[in-house]
Amino acid sequence: MKLRNAALFACMSLISIEPAMAGEKKVPYPDNYRNWSHVKTMLIQPGHPLENPFQGIHHVYANKKAYKGLKNGRYEDGSVLVFDLLNYAEKDHAIQEGERKLIGIMHKDAKKYAQTGGWGFEGFAGDSRTERLVQDGGSSCFACHTQQKENDYVFSKLRE
Ligand code: HEC
Repeated sequence: MKLRNAALFACMSLISIEPAMAGEKKVPYPDNYRNWSHVKTMLIQPGHPLENPFQGIHHVYANKKAYKGLKNGRYEDGSVLVFDLLNYAEKDHAIQEGERKLIGIMHKDAKKYAQTGGWGFEGFAGDSRTERLVQDGGSSCFACHTQQKENDYVFSKLRE
């Protein structure tokens, strides 16, 4: 009987520990990223390989640490890059920003996200700060970003 209780207790403590660990790994919403450094902008149109799901205008933002990384190629823990994706509409020969489709985030923590190159990958739908889009721990994001292994998995480059 004692043994059974001990086993039950062990199971219960596993159950309570697991969500806490998963919570720790969650990439935080990047507060105030619109005040960070703007790195670049791109318009993805139908026919582009990234059309699904990245059709639209995206702006890439870097916080201070990520900006340093873009300069020297080494991203310290706490570096964050944001891919801010908006719908677009063509009107009167101009392409205008529309509503936000999603934001994509890369958050550097070499230990926490060791399985995906030291980067935590996450997405938030539309303007939501809570509706998370990444269901696989970031492995499919990472699979494509491995093309940039030499640049610590980052595609964007700084320009003057
Ligand atoms: C099929 C390839 C592919 C997949 C899948 C992909 N990305 Fe990217 N990602 C790119 C490319 C290409 C760029 C560079 C876009 C540019 O030059 O403006 C990029 C840029 C980014 C950036 C800006 C930093 C950088 O590397 O330039 C972030 C942040 C980002 N992606 C997050 C994500 C997240 C989060 C996911 C998964 C939900 C994801 N990506 C999935 C190809 C991909």
